[in-house]
Amino acid sequence: MKGIILAGGTGSRLYPLTQVASKQLQPVYDKPMVYYPLTVLIASGVREFCLVSTPHDLPRFRQLLGDGTQWGISIEYREQAKPEGIAQAFLIAESFIGQDPVTLILGDNIFFGGDAFPRAFAEFKSGATIFAYHVTDPRRYGVVEFDAEGKAVSLEEKPAQPRSNYAVPGVYLYDNDVVRIAREMEPSPRGELEITDVNKEYLRRGALRVQRLSRGTAWLDAGTSSSLHDASAYVQTIEKRQGMKLGCPEEAALYRGFLSLDQFEMLISGMPACEYRDYLAGLAAEVCRVGIKSA
Ligand code: DAU
Repeated sequence: MKGIILAGGTGSRLYPLTQVASKQLQPVYDKPMVYYPLTVLIASGVREFCLVSTPHDLPRFRQLLGDGTQWGISIEYREQAKPEGIAQAFLIAESFIGQDPVTLILGDNIFFGGDAFPRAFAEFKSGATIFAYHVTDPRRYGVVEFDAEGKAVSLEEKPAQPRSNYAVPGVYLYDNDVVRIAREMEPSPRGELEITDVNKEYLRRGALRVQRLSRGTAWLDAGTSSSLHDASAYVQTIEKRQGMKLGCPEEAALYRGFLSLDQFEMLISGMPACEYRDYLAGLAAEVCRVGIKSA
């Protein structure tokens, strides 16, 4: 499964922070925001990535993430000249996707906990898999309605009168048909190729699986200054309490077997003295002692 990280857009709601660094490069406590979705996909077994962003911001992402070899993955980069919709990413990254299935994750979606994603990736065969998450205010999202048997029956983008409290988070798994579907789509009234229209097409075909995320999964928004601060506070609280980091691609790559312990130790040796390095060194020592326990 190929992986697209969509990290463009204007980030206008975070002005003036986004004058010098795009939204997905802003710190969420101790790491850049994009580390979190990247880690979700690495932990789910994705190894080949394409990051899509604006011509202006791409050089910064390249500087931060490089070609991915340090984490045992590959990362390509593609430009989105204008924010013309989430689904446009499938057209921009068409040559990267080739004949493979593909997952898309939004660079500003932050998830913690549970094993819903690795399981969904392992079970994925065809069609589309999306997720549903209970929220207080579904009007800001794509919303999915279920029937009495728990089957998804409708999808709407930012409805004024939502038919349920289940929002669709920004992680989507598709078979290769998604490229053709995106190619044949028309822009919405707001001028975008809507991801919800892609999902509606899979629903129409009877090929959409909607998996509800349990309350054990946290899905955080970091789109405004206040929610960015809340996300940082959340990460700090969990990390302090557990002594385990969230959104750490090195750790996920080690646990997933993308890096050997030797490669992991080599990677650490190139880092400056800092808390992040100390954490990874502690992990390496623990793995030496007890082996790899968890993903
Ligand atoms: O966060 C989940 C929600 O994401 C879904 O529930 C909605 O169905 C989906 O449309 C989307 O809604 P948003 O209002 O959050 O979309 P937004 O336009 O803010 O874009 C989400 C991220 O994708 C944002 O970080 C910018 C990036 N983006 C967006 C567009 C439209 C791009 O990189 N390029 C684009 O063309």
